[in-house]
Parts: sequence; C-alpha cells; structure tokens
Amino acid sequence: MTSTLPAPEAHDTADIEFASRDRIAALQLDRLRWSLQHAYDNVAHYRNAFDEKGVHPSDLKELSDLSLFPFTGKADLRENYPFGMLAVPQDRVSRIHASSGTTGRPTVVGYTTNDLDNWADLVARSLRAAGVRPTDKVHVAYGYGLFTGGLGAHYGAERLGCTVIPMSGGMTDRQIQLIEDFAPDAIMVTPSYMLTILDAMIAKGIDPAATSLRTGVFGAEPWTEQMRRELEQQLGMDAVDIYGLSEVMGPGVAQECVETKDGLHIWEDHFYPEIIDPMTGEVLPDGEEGELVFTSLTKEAMPIVRYRTRDLTRLLPGTARTMRRIQKITGRSDDMIILRGVNLFPTQIEELILTEPALAPQFQCVLDRPGRMDTLTVHVEYRPEVASEQHVAAAASLKKLIKNRIGVTVDVAIAAPGTLQRSTGKARRLVDNRPKD
Ligand code: DLL
Repeated sequence: MTSTLPAPEAHDTADIEFASRDRIAALQLDRLRWSLQHAYDNVAHYRNAFDEKGVHPSDLKELSDLSLFPFTGKADLRENYPFGMLAVPQDRVSRIHASSGTTGRPTVVGYTTNDLDNWADLVARSLRAAGVRPTDKVHVAYGYGLFTGGLGAHYGAERLGCTVIPMSGGMTDRQIQLIEDFAPDAIMVTPSYMLTILDAMIAKGIDPAATSLRTGVFGAEPWTEQMRRELEQQLGMDAVDIYGLSEVMGPGVAQECVETKDGLHIWEDHFYPEIIDPMTGEVLPDGEEGELVFTSLTKEAMPIVRYRTRDLTRLLPGTARTMRRIQKITGRSDDMIILRGVNLFPTQIEELILTEPALAPQFQCVLDRPGRMDTLTVHVEYRPEVASEQHVAAAASLKKLIKNRIGVTVDVAIAAPGTLQRSTGKARRLVDNRPKD
C-alpha cells in the first residue's frame, strides 16, 4: 500500500529563505509598491497622511524612498478604533485580534483568509527554523483569544504538520500534568511563564530536565542570553526566540534559527524593516541601534506603513538564512527606566541577576519617589537550595554589580523563593509607583 502522507521534503525550508539579497530586494520593491498603493486607495487614514506629507505611492522608486512616507503609531490605530484601519470590506475579514493595551482603547487588527494563510505559513517557517519537525507534538501555552500568541502559534504548528496541544496560558498544574502525560517535543510559551512552570515542576519533585521537551519557542516579551542559558540548562532543551506584534501580524514576524541562536531572522519577504533614531525619526544604517519600524508587504485586511514598534534593536546581516536579523530585543522604549539621569532596562538587571548563582531569575523592578529623588528597588528571589549567608552576600554583590556596570545605585530586596508574583503570560518586570506629574 502506498502512503498518502506528503513526503517530508514538502516541509523543507523554502527556497526564498536562502534567496540572494538582490532577489529579496526586488521582491520587496514590487510588494512595497503594491502595499503602499493598497493602503492609499483603501484606508482614509493613509490617504490623508500621505497627502499631508505630499507623497504618493508612485514616489517609491527604490526601497530607500520609503523614508519619504509618514510613520504610523499606536495612537493612529486607537484614533481609528475599531475598524478604521481596515482596507477591505468587513465581509472579507475572517478574523479579528486585539491587543489589550494598558490604557484606553485596545488596538484592533484584522485578517483576510489570505492573511491567515500567510501567517500560518510564517509561523510554520519559524517553527522549522526553531528545530521543530512535522512529526513533533507541540504544546501551546501562549494565551488563546484576542491575543495573537495562542492562535498564531496554533495554526502555524498545524501548518507544519505537528500534533498541536492547545493548552493556552494558566492552570500551571494542568500544564505540568499534560507535559508529563502527552510528552510534547516542543513548547511555545513566554519565557517568564516557562519559568513559572519550571518552578512548579521542581516544587512537585519533577526533574524538569527529564521531561520530553526538546525545544522551547519563547517570545512575546524581552529575555536575555543569560535567561536562555538558564532555561536550556534546567530544562535540557534548545531555547529559541520568536518575535512579533499584533499590529504587524502576531508571532512569526522574526525567528531565531536553532543552529545559530544569534538573533532573529526577519521574514523579509512579508515585512520591510527599518531602524530609526527614536528622537529624530531619521533612518539609521544597518548595525546601529534604534527603534524598529515595520511596513507590511503582503497584508490585505490591514496594511501597515512604517509602524513604530517602540522595540529597540539593531539590524544585522543574515547568517543561517539570507534574510536580515534583529539582535535580541533589549526592551521597549516604554520600559526604559530613567533613574537620576541614567537609562536602563529590566533586561540589564536580568542579565546581572543571572550572574549571581545564589539568585533566581524571578525579579521585579519597583520605582518610587519617597522624597525628591527617584529610587529603584530590585526585588529578587534567592534559589531555594542556597544557605542564608549566601543570599545576603549575593544581594550586596548584585547592588555593586549594578553600580559598576550600569552606573546607578539601586536597592536590592531579597525575597524568599515563590513569594514574588508569578507570570502566566507577559511578565510585569517594572512597577512604577512614582506620582504622575
Ligand atoms: O506578543 C506577539 C507574540 C506572541 C510574539 C507570541 C511572540 C510570541 P503583542 O501582544 O502585540 O504581540 O506584543 C508585541 O511584545 O512589540 C515587543 O515589545 C514584545 N515582544 C514580542 N516578541 C518579543 C521577543 C505579541 N521575542 C510586543 N522579544 C512587541 C522581545 C518581544 N520582545
């Protein structure tokens, strides 16, 4: 009997992932022209914004001409709430997602069936780059619902041909039970929720390194190389980074390859990246650090032009794929702490915490203003196996490290294992208790 299953080659890396830079640039130019015209013709916001700037889609002669066009920000999406940014009639919209937004109206995004199809393809491509195979079982612990994490991961894993376990976020005991019983090969989850699951496994006397999990596809929040090492060692797995945002699609805009683990390849056949100086808006050359900006090249329901992500990173040349990479994201400009004139990110604190063997990666940064000066307290748990003299010394040592490396004095408050709030999705690393002025 002949098998009706597709040959495994059908899931191999697509030719475009290794295309020459010339071919990628030519494809981008064609698609960018289409995308700008589509936005201009069908979204009043873009027509007005282009007209106001005196630019027309036909002004795009080469890729760098994109800098003539106006930026789009979260405020533009909010002002056009709920459906003003859509470029197709509602009966062509197959699905809606929305980002919660900490204040005010959520940001709404829409997808046609073609958009959903491309999205599933790109997450499948991302998973393959992460080392996931069609024969694998994939446990999805990103939240399902309006958040793009769960459903985005789900359809991509299905597209690759995997067996999907749609667990969603939360119910940590159940997560652990199903990991034990169903023996998944890969898990898709935020790195902070992975830590929560990891701690709960240890508390139950389960050896995390002995589970079936071989690959972790972690994203939706910043995490560091030190955290990668921690997760890989404790769980005995490859930990790779996946990036995306609802306004641009969802997970699968960029993905790290398991063979190099050296930053995330942007799927440049669908998204055109720029790095800008966040203050002046000027486009910076590859290699320089700034704010990541995306223009969609193929999206039908909600084309997005020069969307300011607020994520800070650099563009780097391709390695495992010809498409350019972004360096692991340091943080969002919104999460940048300015403490007595020094800029710092929670990821810098994470890096330093993880150099102290007595300290656990569970931490939170709290900003206060008790008098006229701002203070930052780093609350961090110690590892359960460590004796009390060691945590006191570790706290003093962390304080010194932060002073020496970042140049600012902070307080370090040591907390007992399991006492800081646990994440079940995106961790809240920064709490700002300063009075709003
Ligand atoms: O977080 C989409 C996603 C889901 C990505 C699952 C990866 C995995 P939003 O809720 O719209 O979408 O949040 C997007 O999250 O602008 C970044 O600030 C942050 N972010 C996402 N992935 C990463 C990452 C999803 N790998 C915002 N590293 C983005 C650092 C990330 N930050």
